[in-house]
Amino acid sequence: MSAMLLEVEQLSKSFGGIQAVQNVSFYVKKEDIVAVIGPNGAGKTTLFNMISGIVPPTSGFVRFQGAIVSGKQPHELAMLGMTRTFQNLQLFADMTVLENVMVGFHSRLKSGIVSAGFRLPRTVKEEKQAQEQAFFCLEQVGLAHLAWERAGTLPYGMQRLVEIARAAVSRPSLILLDEPMAGLNPQESKQLVDVLLMMREQGFSFLFVEHDMETVMAIADRIVVLDYGKKIAEGAPEEIARHPDVIKAYLGEEAV
Ligand SMILES: Nc1ncnc2c1ncn2[C@@H]1O[C@H](COP(=O)(O)OP(=O)(O)OP(=O)(O)O)[C@@H](O)[C@H]1O
Ligand SMILES: [Mg+2]
Repeated sequence: MSAMLLEVEQLSKSFGGIQAVQNVSFYVKKEDIVAVIGPNGAGKTTLFNMISGIVPPTSGFVRFQGAIVSGKQPHELAMLGMTRTFQNLQLFADMTVLENVMVGFHSRLKSGIVSAGFRLPRTVKEEKQAQEQAFFCLEQVGLAHLAWERAGTLPYGMQRLVEIARAAVSRPSLILLDEPMAGLNPQESKQLVDVLLMMREQGFSFLFVEHDMETVMAIADRIVVLDYGKKIAEGAPEEIARHPDVIKAYLGEEAV
């Protein structure tokens, strides 16, 4: 049996009268790729923001590697081994690709991504270690040859890969991806799918929110389906694709 990484227990969030997420529970084990899907307004982003420490839950809790982490800040979660990417690219366009990836290394040691981006490493040794680790991650996503380019000059799909290298550089055990395929062309999506599957082989685990059903069906080990804030189904892609409640929730939305 593989080890339990993330346990989401009865997590709820209300905004005034709106129950954005209601009593949602699920888990991610080591080397799992778990996808969260659901129609617009289903509560996916709210759930994701609670898990990654951006929004506090109204009730319920999140356990990561056995310890309760709900209420912790994103940089504290990074230190424990959970990092995330954002739906909109958050690269420093004028910094090099390598420097952008190094930011992820420092964010594990120090405070949040933005402040870390403008802080110099404390020692030459720390700098060298960060650089080596960042370069290694760029090799893994196939971008080592672009390490010294300014990040802003890269095509969109490559910038997404830089973000993933940055999320991976501190060697987290779980990476949260917010719509990783958004804005990518089919060729870029395929490349990203290959990178994610390769990273899983190396021991990374992923939880991702995604609208692109083809990708979800192709790479997810398990899928959690939300509708109106509630979990309506959970299972392997084949089970989800023929689940009556899922088909109903998606009617008039997008084909599953
Ligand atoms: N900060 C907020 N204040 C008030 N209501 C909110 C807030 N954030 C989300 N909601 C509401 O909570 C519900 C769930 O929203 P959420 O953004 O989590 O859905 P989603 O599944 O990510 O949708 P989409 O697919 O459109 O991104 C919606 O009804 C939304 O209007
Ligand atoms: Mg959303």
